[in-house]
Amino acid sequence: MQVAMKIWRYDAATGERALREYEIDAPEEATLLDCLDIVKDKVDGTLAYRKSCRMMICGSCGMRMDGAAVLACKTRMFDVAKEGRVPVISAMGNLPIVRDLVVDMDPFWEKFKAMKPYLQPGYDRPEDGREYRITQERMNAVKKEALCINCGCCVSECNAMESDPEFLGPQALAKGFRFVGDPRDAATVERLEQYSGEHGIWECTRCFFCNERCPKGVDPRDAIAKLGAEAIRTGIDRDMGAKHAKWFVRSTETTGWLRETELVPKTQGVVSSIKQMKFALNLIKHNKAGLAFPPHVAANVDEARRLRRLVLAQGRLGSAGHIQGERALAKLEHGHHDGGDPYGPGSFPKPYLPEDTE
Ligand code: SF4
Ligand code: SF4
Ligand code: FES
Repeated sequence: MQVAMKIWRYDAATGERALREYEIDAPEEATLLDCLDIVKDKVDGTLAYRKSCRMMICGSCGMRMDGAAVLACKTRMFDVAKEGRVPVISAMGNLPIVRDLVVDMDPFWEKFKAMKPYLQPGYDRPEDGREYRITQERMNAVKKEALCINCGCCVSECNAMESDPEFLGPQALAKGFRFVGDPRDAATVERLEQYSGEHGIWECTRCFFCNERCPKGVDPRDAIAKLGAEAIRTGIDRDMGAKHAKWFVRSTETTGWLRETELVPKTQGVVSSIKQMKFALNLIKHNKAGLAFPPHVAANVDEARRLRRLVLAQGRLGSAGHIQGERALAKLEHGHHDGGDPYGPGSFPKPYLPEDTE
């Protein structure tokens, strides 16, 4: 088959950046990685990209196709070629580009290491001297998080990381839950304290792009939600994000509705709310916020209360209350729209380039 693609080339030494088009003859089963190999072998030996296993294991070949992160060795090109599309291939986002499709993974690994991604055992050795055994059911709690291959596709598309490069990010936090959820680990509270700090759990915007782009089904956003639930269960709720989440529960439990007007003082505290009074009055004046008193109570509020009691009776507080496999957004088609950006122009962050080359 004939495969055409445009590749963003970048030379860190000169700062030159150019979109080059390549057309090659490739076997019908070719992946994007195979096509890049053909370009490098037969057309332009200077093209730079990473690869190793070629089978979705090593995590080396993360890059963007039409603005969305993919593993090149997982992405078949047959449909693209058949439809005559010319995808744009570029380096992953949120990481500095070294050259062409190669990004500097150092910031990624620094965050990974900050999570202390190893067991800190807190169990006594069994008396028979044999290994400490736990049930499959308990290990299933971290099954998805253990699938991570550190490819960086989630980080590439993370909105929170784009606005705050210090945000721990989806991969590191998913790794964090890998150990928080492991019954053998003894550092749960210390971990939750650390992950709940500035640039941690509560900085996630819940855009779900990480779930959507992860090629291994790790669903990092789910892991972050579970970390948040565990933090609250453990009493680590100083952050506004935790207070916000707690008020959602309290509000629905008492009235069956989210009482938004009270959300601000409950989340930010009274002093901060008073400082925002002028803004609040403006909202009220323009019918953007109301001061319903007494608050409206849903006719069937008992249903919400019963649901809460059920969760408590089943002991489903913390991460145990989360349903695995929440991938609603992952079902969205993306990446093949006119203009490249799947949800409209600018819907995905652009590749990072050193300032002097912008
Ligand atoms: S859901 Fe959170 S962690 Fe995932 S991409 Fe969005 S902001 Fe980043
Ligand atoms: S969570 Fe998924 S997308 Fe992110 S690094 Fe791990 S495997 Fe890659
Ligand atoms: S080359 Fe190893 S994951 Fe693609």
